[in-house]
Formats: sequence, C-alpha cells, structure tokens
Amino acid sequence: MIQRIEVPYTHRFAEMVRILDDTGLLLAASKRSGESNVMTIGWGMVGVVWGLPIFAVLVRPSRFTYQFIEDSGEFTVNVPSPELRRFVDFCGSHSGREVDKFAQFHIATSPGRRVSSVTIDACPWVYECRVVQKNDVLPETLAPKIISAYYPRGDLHRVFYGEILGVFAAE
Ligand SMILES: Cc1cc2nc3c(=O)[nH]c(=O)nc-3n(C[C@H](O)[C@H](O)[C@H](O)COP(=O)(O)O)c2cc1C
Repeated sequence: MIQRIEVPYTHRFAEMVRILDDTGLLLAASKRSGESNVMTIGWGMVGVVWGLPIFAVLVRPSRFTYQFIEDSGEFTVNVPSPELRRFVDFCGSHSGREVDKFAQFHIATSPGRRVSSVTIDACPWVYECRVVQKNDVLPETLAPKIISAYYPRGDLHRVFYGEILGVFAAE
C-alpha cells in the first residue's frame, strides 16, 4: 500500500483547479459490496459550506459512477499525474458498464483512510469525501443558454457535496 501523509484541503489548490479545467480529475467510488468504478470529471468545486471543507462534484444520472456514489454515499477525487493522461482520457470516454477501467490499465488502488471508496495509488494527492448534501440541477432555475449548451437531451447533473474528511499526498 502506498505511503501518504495528510495535508490541508487547500493543498496545491491552484494546480488542482488547473488540472480539473485541463485534462480532468479522476472521480472514484466503491459500492458497499466492494465493487469500484472511476470516471473523469471536468467540473467541481472546493470550498467551505456549513463550516465544513467541501468538494462538490457534478455527475449525470446516466454515468455508471452515479450509482456507486448513491450506494455508498462516498467518493474520492484523485489528482492525476501527467503520466496518467491516457487513463484519464479513457475514463472520460468509456463506461464501467462495458469495461473494468482499473483492470484494463493495471491501475493499483487502495481503500481510503477515512472512506471505504478506493483511491488511486499513482495519483500524487487524493481527497476522501462523504456526501453531506445532494441536489439536482433544475432547468427552471438555470440560465437558458446553459440548458441549450449542456442539456439538449436532459440528463441534468446531480451535485454531490462531499465533506472532505481528509486529503492525502504521496510523500
Ligand atoms: C474532460 C472530461 C470531463 C468530464 N467531466 C464530467 C463531469 O464533470 N460530470 C459528468 O457527469 N461527466 C463528465 N465527463 C464524462 C464522463 O467522464 C464519461 O461519461 C465517463 O465515461 C463516465 O464513466 P462511467 O459510466 O463509468 O461512470 C467528462 C468527460 C471528460 C472527457
């Protein structure tokens, strides 16, 4: 198992946002049965709500990962190194319904320290989160230009607000 140290939730914040907006981050989750999945995310927010450090992620109901977060109420956000570029691209274009993405790329994972969902060993730092709130993007309160640009076929995102229980970085 990989050695990691705990770091503040603000760890390398600007770099995390840059990667989110560039290639994307890796959102992983495990069901209570132990099965795991991973997908790429390009949208998300880290901040403070209810006096808690929060990582909010937006997941469409059609994503296989959605069921995993719903099942366990947990997820991890894993920041990929440049070497994981091909894996990140694959996770953003292939569903876990058709392929075991971890197995296909021989990606090692470890259970989180504060959650049961897996974390990705090759990622330099990871956020472990437990859902404290979820709500759906509503078309009636959304700007029309966003509806036409992102939701022509519906499948509106659910926003999962994950309390950041810990951030762990490779030593
Ligand atoms: C760069 C990038 C960013 C993405 N961001 C998101 C996102 O924030 N939310 C989302 O629901 N899907 C997002 N996707 C799409 C999912 O990663 C993609 O549909 C994936 O295959 C879902 O995998 P799954 O079905 O195994 O969960 C993104 C895709 C790419 C390539």
